[in-house]
Amino acid sequence: MANSSNGASAPAVNGKAYPITDHTFDVVIVGAGGAGLRATVGCSQAGLRTACISKVFPTRSHTVAAQGGVAAALANMGADDWKWHMYDTVKGSDWLGDQDAIEYLCRNAPAAVYELDHWGVPFSRTTEGKIYQRPFGGMTTDYGRGPPAQRTCAAADRTGHAMLHTLYGQALKNSTQFFIEYFAIDLIMDSEGRCRGVVCIKMDDGTIHRFRAALTILATGGYGRAYFSATSAHTCTGDGGGMVLRAGLPLQDMEFVQFHPTGIYGAGCLITEGARGEGGYLTNSNGERFMERYAPSVKDLAPRDMVSRAMTMEIREGRGVGKGADHIYLHLDHLDPKILHERLPGISESAKIFAGVDVTKEPIPVLPTVHYNMGGIQTNYHGEVLVKRGDNPDVVVPGLMALGEAACVSVHGANRLGSNSLIDLVVFGRAAGLRAAEIVTPGEKQAALPADSADLALSRLDHFRNASGSTPTADLRLNMQRVMQANCAVYRTGDTLNEGVKLIQDVWQAKDDIKVTDRSLIWNSDLIETLEFDNLIVQAVVTMNGAANRTESRGAHAREDYAERDDATWMKHTLSSIDDHARKVSIDYRPVHSYTMTNEVSYIEPKARVY
Ligand code: FUM
Repeated sequence: MANSSNGASAPAVNGKAYPITDHTFDVVIVGAGGAGLRATVGCSQAGLRTACISKVFPTRSHTVAAQGGVAAALANMGADDWKWHMYDTVKGSDWLGDQDAIEYLCRNAPAAVYELDHWGVPFSRTTEGKIYQRPFGGMTTDYGRGPPAQRTCAAADRTGHAMLHTLYGQALKNSTQFFIEYFAIDLIMDSEGRCRGVVCIKMDDGTIHRFRAALTILATGGYGRAYFSATSAHTCTGDGGGMVLRAGLPLQDMEFVQFHPTGIYGAGCLITEGARGEGGYLTNSNGERFMERYAPSVKDLAPRDMVSRAMTMEIREGRGVGKGADHIYLHLDHLDPKILHERLPGISESAKIFAGVDVTKEPIPVLPTVHYNMGGIQTNYHGEVLVKRGDNPDVVVPGLMALGEAACVSVHGANRLGSNSLIDLVVFGRAAGLRAAEIVTPGEKQAALPADSADLALSRLDHFRNASGSTPTADLRLNMQRVMQANCAVYRTGDTLNEGVKLIQDVWQAKDDIKVTDRSLIWNSDLIETLEFDNLIVQAVVTMNGAANRTESRGAHAREDYAERDDATWMKHTLSSIDDHARKVSIDYRPVHSYTMTNEVSYIEPKARVY
């Protein structure tokens, strides 16, 4: 058991004392979604004293909302090969993914899924009792030459729910210590650039907790809530990304934001891509299955960036459906109701509740909706956070890892394939546990923390707690979300992006005028939402700036003024940093890894991305 002590110190900020409870662990994991829990299990199994901190109860983490499935070349439903999965992922990434990391992902995917199966994930089954797998966008056979692959392993349309609950059970079985409803305020970085832990507030009583650790792992999820309409939970505020930017480290490829083609019109709730995997299709106001024109071979099973662009085009050209001709129909009404009941029960219910639609009889009104951040904290495939120092772009930041949507490994590059997110969580969650076991000795003695180790976090907390400007956090958040939605959308131009850079800068500046009404420390949702907004706004800013800066089209970044991919200039990762006081963004670059992990596969040469 790790040691905790009460009231080790009570630093005063602005004359107010904030007593601190100290904890020491070998590993502290922030976030209890799929990646955080998988890493937690691995670290605990390695005998490391492991703490998992979460701002929500673990089984409410956003992984619970993942629907369609987890990709792995199991070949249960026809021929498949992890090398085909690798090819599809490289092509899906529009050649911005690092091929060594993509090899690691696809090669290790089947073992990661069998591990989940053995731990008790209730996967749907074939008649022979094998794990059921469905087609998903961009997943093909024979290096794109064959028909769509059935590669996405599913537990009906509640795969994330099944995985999250199973992983939480495994973490409990392995005696992990959980700190639930603790909000991480900031990292503790020492003068040598090593991460030494994290400072948190326990939300139900307002006490401050300082976690000292040999290794801190950020698995805090994406920042979808920087946008007005997102499939992401309201908790998806990119808290790890915010902490990393404030620690002076860059975020990678933030301009690549995925729009899922089928969010319910008006509500934004996800209708899984598995719906098209099971035979669903999209139509415009002429009743035309328009995807046949945009992706003649795979049609509705094209990757998400392409389907979202096609839908946007149909609407723009006057072929949208509904009163405002501003959305598209997704048809499942031709499918056997028994299949819908067995394989898509969750979305059948969501369509009823949020669109008033009986999917057995009517189409679902849908619209591309923000769903996933390809960008995030730069890591290698062990989960170690990287920073560029001099000529070396891949220097490991000691004591710090990042996983899941918070991270950018980069396996998804410019566009993630559906069902490659859940597999990313467990493959790299497992990798982080393995690496932790190599680099951390259980119970190792840790140096004392610097005297000022909580100052950054406490002064930030105190500043916002007493903020007495004139703009409520909710107003600033709405302004940010509107700017992101309008100026950094599916299609982008220099004009909209440059305007967006100015508008989002204004929101960032307006942080000086923020108003927090509740001064208490107990369940102060006003304060927590302000800290979350502070995390979101810096990521919104680097997203917009990165998008304005990248003058090409690649994956989810579709510039109308630069319609082509430009490998000569832009086959490189963007690294964005901020100076939060001066409100400045700086941009640097890092080469894409143009090599594989082993000689068993060769580098996949770039070519036109057609389906
Ligand atoms: O459509 C879906 O079920 C989402 C899956 C994913 O984002 O990987």
